Amino acid sequence: MKRQHWLLCVATTAMVVFAPRQFTAQQSSARIRIDPDRVIGEVNPLLFGNFTEHLGRCIYGGIFEEGSPLSDADGFRKDVLEAARGLGVTMLRWPGGNFASGYNWKDGIGPRDQRPARRDDAWGALETNRFGTDEFLRYCERLKVEPYLCINAGLGTVDDARHWVEYTNEPGNTYWAQQRRKNGRDKPWGVKYWGLGNEIDGPWQLGHKNADDYAKFALEAAKAMRRADESIQLIASGSSNFGQGADWVGWNRTVLERLRNEVDYISLHTYIGNRDNNFEKFLAVSRDIDDRIEVVKGQIKAVQVGNSRARPIAIAFDEWNVWYRTLTPGSTEFQIASTGLEENYNFEDALAMGMFLNSFIRHADIVKMANLAQLVNVIAPIFTNKQALYLQTTYFPLAEYAKQRGNHSLDVLVESPQYKPDNGRPLGYLDVSTTYDPKTRQVFVNVLNRSEKTDITARIENIAGAPSGAVTVWELNHPDLKATHTFGKDNVVRPSTRTVNVKSSGNGFEYTFPKHSLTILRF
Ligand code: AHR
Repeated sequence: MKRQHWLLCVATTAMVVFAPRQFTAQQSSARIRIDPDRVIGEVNPLLFGNFTEHLGRCIYGGIFEEGSPLSDADGFRKDVLEAARGLGVTMLRWPGGNFASGYNWKDGIGPRDQRPARRDDAWGALETNRFGTDEFLRYCERLKVEPYLCINAGLGTVDDARHWVEYTNEPGNTYWAQQRRKNGRDKPWGVKYWGLGNEIDGPWQLGHKNADDYAKFALEAAKAMRRADESIQLIASGSSNFGQGADWVGWNRTVLERLRNEVDYISLHTYIGNRDNNFEKFLAVSRDIDDRIEVVKGQIKAVQVGNSRARPIAIAFDEWNVWYRTLTPGSTEFQIASTGLEENYNFEDALAMGMFLNSFIRHADIVKMANLAQLVNVIAPIFTNKQALYLQTTYFPLAEYAKQRGNHSLDVLVESPQYKPDNGRPLGYLDVSTTYDPKTRQVFVNVLNRSEKTDITARIENIAGAPSGAVTVWELNHPDLKATHTFGKDNVVRPSTRTVNVKSSGNGFEYTFPKHSLTILRF
């Protein structure tokens, strides 16, 4: 390694500033210092949420395929259910996305054969409405995940929204509760999480509004929905429009100022892509994700400061993923729909999953919900045809992060060789998050080495003492950054696991993170 060409950095998620260490030739080139007392926040299980939209083959032909030998009596694809379980999904958002802004939930209840077929003007498709509210909520029950419904804040009304809450949650004998019972469900579904619209700041959205008009609508919707069930949690539509000239900070400011006493979350959406085929630049986007989270966190604080009774508000990162191959810049939503958004993911995209999740975990104090967009076929880790499914490369890190974690996110000190991905600010090659389980006293260190060419040896120190036993290693790596999966061939990019007996000295040990790899160390 040509150490003299590398800069060294200190990256810490806390306010405490550590003095940069001077490295000598004998020392490790990187250092990760863990202190189990430095807790950033609780890692909310809802960070492992997902999303199913009426779009392409996500619902029809994805989770739901009536008459298929692979489906159960409800029309749910059993193979997809099993794969979703393996993914460790904790929550499902529905029915959109853009689709939500033209959707009338009343079309999707009652006897299936009597439901109206409608134009889906968000995606230029035909919506049969054979999958509706009861099907979705039954699916969530089957999968044992928390449902999250997004109201139509585009072309819909406040009345539609409050009736929807009444339909799903009312225990009494009201009109909409009676309709639910007539449709086979006596007990209320008890839907807790409700989105106040989707990407309403985007000009592409049906019923797009300016921030003032949106705030006015959302405030009235929140009030009316809470009258139907005061226990619900509400997610405001934060800005998703980062295009040129878009005032995303201004949108969030207005929304937070006006809705601060009503909402529990504000949403954030981010899609990324390796458009110019530059691996290290692609995986540098964590900085942008971190920055956006921190800006919104500051905006939340700005509307709460000085008010000891301020309503707690968190960030719901309720759409995130790699999406660029089936997204042509400048195209209309209708053209986008014709691709079905069926991305075929490769190995470097799988590494990006770790990058996103590291950022969410590093911000566990404020990011309390996150939803990968989406679950099946549409920019998804699971891909079906009529006979089978295969698991995309992105499936494996998602599943592992959901499984291997403690409930405390730790503020770790990371010193790592740096690079300048965009000729701008320096960034460490190692992207790290760490969690700790105080019950079992296990530490999980998640490390993305985004150097394309160089392995990096780090000294891992734990101020509570070096690990006494073996260290368990989960590693995702592949020599071909572009390696992909397909039907019958989804074992190309697979993780390896092993235990290593590290040689501890002092309060730490050394570990080498291979170039372009994602590693989870547990000790
Ligand atoms: O997830 C695909 C689409 O991306 C969603 O419908 C929309 O909210 C976003 O623009």
